[in-house]
Amino acid sequence: MQLLVTGGLGFIGSNLVRHLLSEHPNYHVINLDAMTYAGHPANLQDLGHLNRYKFIAGRIEDAELVGSIVSGKRFGPIDGIINLAAETHVDRSIQDPNVFVHTNVLGTQVLLEAAYKYGVSRKNSNKDCQPIRFVQVSTDEVYGSLGATGYFTEETPLAPNSPYSASKASADMLCRAYFHTYGMPVAITRCSNNYGPYQHPEKLIPLFINNALNNKPVPVYGDGLNVRDWLHVEDHCQAIDLVFHRGLPGEIYNIGGNNEKKNIDITTLILAQLGKGPELMPESNVENA
Ligand SMILES: NC(=O)c1ccc[n+]([C@@H]2O[C@H](COP(=O)([O-])OP(=O)(O)OC[C@H]3O[C@@H](n4cnc5c(N)ncnc54)[C@H](O)[C@@H]3O)[C@@H](O)[C@H]2O)c1
Repeated sequence: MQLLVTGGLGFIGSNLVRHLLSEHPNYHVINLDAMTYAGHPANLQDLGHLNRYKFIAGRIEDAELVGSIVSGKRFGPIDGIINLAAETHVDRSIQDPNVFVHTNVLGTQVLLEAAYKYGVSRKNSNKDCQPIRFVQVSTDEVYGSLGATGYFTEETPLAPNSPYSASKASADMLCRAYFHTYGMPVAITRCSNNYGPYQHPEKLIPLFINNALNNKPVPVYGDGLNVRDWLHVEDHCQAIDLVFHRGLPGEIYNIGGNNEKKNIDITTLILAQLGKGPELMPESNVENA
């Protein structure tokens, strides 16, 4: 089995590449990543010696490059694509939505088109061949904000609130369309917030840990009462692996930790673990802590 993983130098992608290579000793993984500010070669540098792992620097919107990989011309046939390549930081999407639409929407369509085109021709040339399976790694942010007690289900109406989540919801719609229109085996995962190794320091948990270690204030957003569900990244990788192998085409799978926490509670926990006091929080948040 040979898989194309996109965005494999990022937080979840690098954990997933490691997971796939260690859980499936016969699998080959090609990692296509644009090495944006969020993609760190160091995340996977220890895999460089492995002949089952190949890295390609490039963008998922580059149809020629994607075609050369998915057609099998470069490294042999591809059995599946797991798409994690994305612009992911909500604050950046508010500053510059353009690149979010380009990568997250257009890039996903380029990958879908290649999987469809080369999956069909592969099947036509060999009746025993399976079409190329496709997993779109999306986010529960397409459903909007999590209420204090509520949970999202796969039937929750889409209500993206930021350019980031709107671009992810748009990509999900394209995946749905490729399943319904062309019968492509596409499944979508929608996971809650991840934590764990290799996360970019701009994200909440690593940012707050770094700031606290350096005795800098932790920038809690608003009143700190926003609720997020948290899941360890390795649990997310196991779920993606499961959906890739056992998921039904056309299905959406929500992935969560049943671990909802207010931002202020996460902040208090981080400060307590590091032996720091509430003086590092904005004054307006201290009463909510
Ligand atoms: N982090 C979370 O908590 C979380 C939760 C649910 C879903 N997701 C989804 O999981 C995926 C991965 O998230 P992450 O947190 O690891 O992101 P990340 O920002 O850490 O990594 C994104 C990776 O994609 C690469 N990339 C960006 N644009 C690209 C392009 N045009 N072509 C190729 N590569 C490109 C970057 O270089 C980087 O390596 C995203 O699709 C995101 O929406 C993330």
